[in-house]
Amino acid sequence: MTGGNANLRDPQSLQELAVDIAREAGDLARRRRAEGVSLAATKSSVADIVTEADREVEELIRERLRVECAGDGFLGEESEPSDGTTGVTWVVDPIDGTVNYAYGLPLYSVSIAAVAGSADPESWQALAGVVYAPVLGELFSAARGSGAWLDGTRLAVNTETPAGALLSTGFGYDPSTHDGDLATVRQIMPLARDLRRMGSAAIDLSYVAAGRLDGYFERGLKPWDFAAGALLVEEAGGVVTRSDTASARPMLVAAGNQVHARLSAILDNGK
Ligand code: IPD
Ligand code: CA
Repeated sequence: MTGGNANLRDPQSLQELAVDIAREAGDLARRRRAEGVSLAATKSSVADIVTEADREVEELIRERLRVECAGDGFLGEESEPSDGTTGVTWVVDPIDGTVNYAYGLPLYSVSIAAVAGSADPESWQALAGVVYAPVLGELFSAARGSGAWLDGTRLAVNTETPAGALLSTGFGYDPSTHDGDLATVRQIMPLARDLRRMGSAAIDLSYVAAGRLDGYFERGLKPWDFAAGALLVEEAGGVVTRSDTASARPMLVAAGNQVHARLSAILDNGK
């Protein structure tokens, strides 16, 4: 699969390749976790960590893409981005939920998306996306126009929330953002039957797609956190929006139509 126009790249072939790579990458992450985790560094703050495994898993994914999709662009959490020549860019989070991973919690995932266009989420079109949670043994995947799937089962977001919405969110690593994020949670709570904090944005989005959550919102996500998960939600019939995109911390909201409208009304009012 070398060169060529992005329009000629079939989303289902990209999905198949992403599934194959994500399985290999997730199995490596899991193996490394069983051998013990060593922190490689902290990044923006003490909470923002990277392990040796994050880097090794990204290298594995990048190398497979270099061999199998020469000329495609790459945007990953742990290495330098590269522009491609084919019109397709791979957007990769090798381990989403690194803090869970470091603590031995099972909620972490490999997230791989193929997008058409530049590496800018405001202009790209996601073609395929995979979120693989190796400890949970669950692989969520989607190809544009072909639905979202958990293994062999087609996914659909929840459209009715008679007992209030089960929502999920996350918090940025920068402590100076915590007050603002907690104030947002306070505004949202009247709509929620309860609130979860999974610790992996890619899993939050996969769970919205699977109807295990009614909605998810978070400020300040990076493109690799949501590239695959957002396609899953859309292909499962849901809505994903990003607002305040000019700010350092855009707000992402993902849910079925009704909950999305109710969340957005509260969040827009709270500005
Ligand atoms: C983080 C997780 C977390 C979210 C943070 C992300 P990382 O990604 O997705 O749930 O709240 O905003 O940065 O650092 O574990 O790859
Ligand atoms: Ca991440």
